[in-house]
Amino acid sequence: MTHHNRRAFIGTALSGTAGLLLARPVPAARAQTRESRIDILVDEPIGAIAPEIYGHFVEHLGGVVYDGIWVGEQSRVANVDGIRKALVDRLKTIKPAVIRWPGGCFADSYDWHDGVGAPEKRPRRTDFWVDTRPSQDRSPTPGPQRFDPNRFGTNEFIRFCRLVGAAPYIAANVRSLPAKDLYQWIEYCNAPAGSTTMAELRAAGGEREPFDVRYWGVGNEPWGCGGNFTPEEYATEFRRYTAWVPKFGVPIRFIAAGPNGGDRDWTARFFRALTAKGAGALNGVYGWAMHYYCGSTGDRNAIQFTTIDWYDLLARADRMESIVTTHWDAMAESDPSHKVKLIVDEWGAWHAGSADLPANYLWAYPGSLRDALVAALTLDTFNRHADKIVMANVAQLVNTIHSLFVAHEHRFTVTPNFHVFDMYAAHQGATAVRTAFAAPAIAFDRDGRAQSLWGLNGSASLRDRRLAVTVVNPHAAAACESTIAVRGATVREARATMLTADDIHAHNSFDRPAAVTPVDTPAAARGTSFVHTFPPASVTRLLLTLE
Ligand code: AHR
Repeated sequence: MTHHNRRAFIGTALSGTAGLLLARPVPAARAQTRESRIDILVDEPIGAIAPEIYGHFVEHLGGVVYDGIWVGEQSRVANVDGIRKALVDRLKTIKPAVIRWPGGCFADSYDWHDGVGAPEKRPRRTDFWVDTRPSQDRSPTPGPQRFDPNRFGTNEFIRFCRLVGAAPYIAANVRSLPAKDLYQWIEYCNAPAGSTTMAELRAAGGEREPFDVRYWGVGNEPWGCGGNFTPEEYATEFRRYTAWVPKFGVPIRFIAAGPNGGDRDWTARFFRALTAKGAGALNGVYGWAMHYYCGSTGDRNAIQFTTIDWYDLLARADRMESIVTTHWDAMAESDPSHKVKLIVDEWGAWHAGSADLPANYLWAYPGSLRDALVAALTLDTFNRHADKIVMANVAQLVNTIHSLFVAHEHRFTVTPNFHVFDMYAAHQGATAVRTAFAAPAIAFDRDGRAQSLWGLNGSASLRDRRLAVTVVNPHAAAACESTIAVRGATVREARATMLTADDIHAHNSFDRPAAVTPVDTPAAARGTSFVHTFPPASVTRLLLTLE
């Protein structure tokens, strides 16, 4: 494309993505730089990006809690009161605003009483993930992943949150415990020091002062492991569990457990049923929490995949965009002023476990550059919908699914996902502003079905005079040269940080923990328009200081 016709292309492409060119992915050797345009509309705010969008999820599943987080005070692994120190040190650098615990499906079989009081007296229980999925447990030896000693309970979770500076988000059991247990768990956490027997129980465990837990999830996946409810049944349960709950002066935010992926009907029916006794019921719901996993490809191998698998996974991760707007519209049918906001409290790619980690650490693998792009494009989606989404929790923190860390005994590494969270932390609490990306779309063929993925996308946010722009180039082989126009402001200076690798399968491991690491790159950005080239298969963050 010549300079002349590039301008013509940009002019037409800006009118919308429907008219974008479809280009077949080209092998690396023949890959050419594609041209594109990004417009950043500084004067068009979307909303404040809730720091909680950069939230995490910890479940008693495989090696997440035991070994991942909890190694024990007597462990030779460096720890802070039993909690893995390396994890604490790295996690706190990315400002984890909120952590959800104890599940997931585990939450609806968990009795919180088991995890409080003297550790040596706590009961040992078979973990939900082993008990209900015997085929997953290939471990010949029983261990805490299989028989949960309840050594990591409420007090330990709160200490972990405090160590890393995160707010706790507790998911209560609706399937197998009565509402009274939710009341008492809230009382245990939030009753003033010395006030009730529950407050004394907390103090006996070394925590006199209340925890002031604000975020309370009412069950998890009620359409499945959370009770096999219909939306109408769950709406009734939600009202019952949350009505007249003692709050101990804490502004509690109840989170209703929502649909699986794009199940619009579940959302519409829940909200209809919830408001059947009047719209006042909406005041009792802080957020509607949906889950979306984009899955895996082929034989679910996290590291070995084809270029088509690469595009396929990214395109499926990109469905988050339409899932968010679909549920938002469905919620509006019963909540037109959108009192209730959206939460995505489980998301990520989900591959098969790596043979290098214990089999009973279910779905544990180091993740590759591909997963980093899934993380980046998903976080960009959340930023672009900052007016709708108040929290999101990547599934999960360590040793399973879309994790940021992998740990086994004394060995520990960050995954490429961690670096994305690190780079994107610049968006937390800033104001998302509107962007328009125009680039040749990428066409690919998945099992005879023609598919397409945008050629460049991202998000931008403004805090004081600093503009953070994050950009994903999903093309496996071609760079993308972009003319970036900052509308409504002038750039004084710029810094660029970029995450990529020569090989799209690149990943970190215990032996090569820095194989995928971000690097600072030159950015010649000045004035109201400049050109920046985004390498193939990359995530870039531009920090622009405005005049
Ligand atoms: O994150 C693993 C599991 O996936 C969670 O326990 C459940 O909520 C979801 O189905």
